[in-house]
Amino acid sequence: MRRIVATAAGGYKTLKVEHVSLPSSVLGPKQVNVQVHAAGMNFADIYSRQGLSPYFQPPCTLGIECAGMVLSIGEQVKQIKVGDRVAVTSFLGGAFSEQIVTEESSCSPVPEIMSWDEAAAIKINYLTAYLSLFPLGGLQPHQTVFTHNAAGGVGWAVTQLAKTLEGVTVIGRASQEKHQIIQDNGVDHALHYDQDHVKEIRQLTPNGVNLVLDMYSGSSLRVSQDLLKPFGKMVILGALNLMDKEFANPERIEQFQESVKDTVTAANILNKSIGVAGLNLAEILTHHPSVIPPIWKTLMNLYEDGHISPRLDSVWRFEEIVEATKILEDRKNIGKVILKV
Ligand SMILES: NC(=O)c1ccc[n+]([C@@H]2O[C@H](COP(=O)([O-])OP(=O)(O)OC[C@H]3O[C@@H](n4cnc5c(N)ncnc54)[C@H](OP(=O)(O)O)[C@@H]3O)[C@@H](O)[C@H]2O)c1
Repeated sequence: MRRIVATAAGGYKTLKVEHVSLPSSVLGPKQVNVQVHAAGMNFADIYSRQGLSPYFQPPCTLGIECAGMVLSIGEQVKQIKVGDRVAVTSFLGGAFSEQIVTEESSCSPVPEIMSWDEAAAIKINYLTAYLSLFPLGGLQPHQTVFTHNAAGGVGWAVTQLAKTLEGVTVIGRASQEKHQIIQDNGVDHALHYDQDHVKEIRQLTPNGVNLVLDMYSGSSLRVSQDLLKPFGKMVILGALNLMDKEFANPERIEQFQESVKDTVTAANILNKSIGVAGLNLAEILTHHPSVIPPIWKTLMNLYEDGHISPRLDSVWRFEEIVEATKILEDRKNIGKVILKV
């Protein structure tokens, strides 16, 4: 079978398609073997290739998300059966592969009407968006949310889920050429990177917004807190400010760590009467998987009723992994980049 590996921490040259033998047919009691039909690319794949993932390091098989058909199951697997269609998360990598052996708890059933590409696009983005907006962000009808990265996989999902509540206003930031499409997706006010987003948001809503989703971290965290009205919340989701070139050097990482210091302080939270939260989906899915099934059910109902649908930016073959990666790194994607097996 084929799989995509990063041979060492580094740039595009480290990406290779390898041919290896099929996984062993002997499964652990709670394991499931899945025939992968499509895999979803996440920004985390870039961190993994660069050796910045806290969970696994090159040399490794990349990929934390895929979708496929269950081929075999371990003897204690209860909820999944052979032939089921599942969306799989794999935070130790391995999803960019023709087959993956994983735990039952990493598999979520997907309906017949969902294509393989959509099934590979929906799980990480929509779970991240849902958890950020509702349990963590506490978004209510008629409130205002500001999201960075509104054209990315998570931002796309954030917009659609926020709009499932009546009267919510979404302010979204993305490259200017993506504005028409994100507005069609529900963004009410689109901002681009040449605009002073703080000034623009203050003009739109002088008292501040109820919720900011911050994918940048570093110095951005201070700005995001300043955008909140009292009782507002900032949810920290990512560290795009860590990104630099094809391969982040140690100096860059040090600068980033320095820029994060003292961005969230007890005094600021207290004096502004705001809340600050963070989400690490990998930790939730790995250590608290029982949180997921009811939310997944809600998401699948919203999908079946036509309220949410992931946007597929482009579909690539395994052999085109460098081109697919560049779409994300060059900030070209609108929605999800898919690898077809
Ligand atoms: N906390 C969690 O559990 C969790 C889970 C999933 C994702 N995330 C985070 O959420 C963010 C979005 O993730 P995603 O997988 O949906 O990726 P994505 O949004 O598809 O990422 C690509 C997009 O990010 C934007 N971008 C902004 N700054 C960038 C930079 N410095 N370099 C490259 N692109 C940049 C670009 O669009 P524009 O320039 O047009 O905005 C680009 O098209 C990431 O920070 C990711 O780590 C967190």
